[in-house]
Amino acid sequence: MQLPPVPKTPSWLLALQFEANIFGCMDAITQRYGDMVTVMFGSTPTIYVSNPSAIKEIFTRGKEIVARGALNKEEFALFTGEQGVLQLDGAHHKNRRKLLMSAFHGTRMQACGQHICELTEKIMAKQSIGKPFLAYPMLEQITLAIGIKVVMGLRQGERYEKVKELFATVFKHELSSTMQLVAKLPFWEWDLGRWSPQGNLLYLRKELFQLLYAEVQERRKQCKQLDSSPTDILSDLVLATDDTGEPISDEEIRDLLISPIGATQGASATAIAWALYWIHSLPHVRDRLLAELNGMGENPDIPTILALPYLNAVCNEVLRIYPTQLFSFPRIVESPVEIMGYKLSPGTIVIVNIYSTHQREDLYPETKQFQPERFLKQQFSNYEFLPFGGGSRACIGGAFALFTMKLVLATILLRYQLNLVKLQPEKPKFDGLLCYPGSGVKMIMQSRYQHKKQS
Ligand code: HEM
Repeated sequence: MQLPPVPKTPSWLLALQFEANIFGCMDAITQRYGDMVTVMFGSTPTIYVSNPSAIKEIFTRGKEIVARGALNKEEFALFTGEQGVLQLDGAHHKNRRKLLMSAFHGTRMQACGQHICELTEKIMAKQSIGKPFLAYPMLEQITLAIGIKVVMGLRQGERYEKVKELFATVFKHELSSTMQLVAKLPFWEWDLGRWSPQGNLLYLRKELFQLLYAEVQERRKQCKQLDSSPTDILSDLVLATDDTGEPISDEEIRDLLISPIGATQGASATAIAWALYWIHSLPHVRDRLLAELNGMGENPDIPTILALPYLNAVCNEVLRIYPTQLFSFPRIVESPVEIMGYKLSPGTIVIVNIYSTHQREDLYPETKQFQPERFLKQQFSNYEFLPFGGGSRACIGGAFALFTMKLVLATILLRYQLNLVKLQPEKPKFDGLLCYPGSGVKMIMQSRYQHKKQS
């Protein structure tokens, strides 16, 4: 086997440097060692790749380099269940992806667009003029409600409120930096009931799983009497049969619901929070975007908003400069394969480094500058601009995430004049999966505009 360069820093020190400043560390490593770098975790080589030609090979050579579900089990199965889409493989994985993705099309999306605008308006209306607020947690409320609606069809009632509360606490619990620190201590593994961190998390998770399971069972009964087409993913799954003609079990449906809700809440809120930060920290960007939005006239419809070129370029640049997810999920080499001259043996782990690909000066000159115009001037390939990963495990919600981003941003910008409370640069933080604005984007509402309604 011939591996790409291995940094001389011992892997424990590298891990500490990653913890302290992952962005600086990745920039320094790529600058020094190039766009394919090997990090040894024990005796397993893990190759981080930010070379577009190599990325193409990784995403298209699915027979040799496999996105095994087992690679995601340790990190995610506790929260997504054993049968979540992230843990699945082969034809089974393909079939479940197809079922989940069929929700993000046509008239269903049109109806959902209306809901997204109304929800954004409702939650924004709670902010008082002149009183500072943190945009990121507020956006999480919006995106969690969107996720629960699209995935489970719920928008009110006791079960909706409880699912919302549990999702917010379980996922926050999992991702908070204090919990990550606590999780490294030896007592983390002990389940001492609700008063130990692990015990409390398991308790909340059990409650959430029970609630989702109850909803699946109830929906199965309701769907027997359904005389119209389903309008959410849960009903799609209850009505679906797999390749053998068998219905999907209630346990599997429960697990399949979790990642799409969690991703809509977490990843979409993060991206929109970054967008609000960039737009409001750069007056020329805000002015150009507002001119485009206001140019739509009174009562702009949803397709018109979605087609706006500068809004699209702003969203892409947001996802380029700090990609919400810095890395793809891991792949494993299962048959010997040669990539860019390196001969990789079975067992080697390969991770696409989305962040460093998006920081390449040859693709994105003045790479640290937020410049939406680059997306108006140039088209990038799927291996150069890849916020949603690629290949067999590409994000199932990429188009929906952009749809949500555009509608939430348009609703906020058309209705409210916001400012950042401080004009200091917002520092990115990495929670092990997502890259979010560290201080939460503190904003203040200056005034409300009286015009423009989406229809
Ligand atoms: C800005 C928002 C989002 C970003 C940046 C993002 C990014 C990603 C990335 C990078 C991957 C890994 C792809 C790979 O390994 O090649 C992924 C996978 C995934 N995403 Fe997203 N995502 C976003 C929103 C969403 C939404 C809204 C949903 C659900 C509706 C979603 C559901 C998923 C699922 C289920 C997977 C795993 C797919 C599989 O295992 O086959 N994501 N996402």
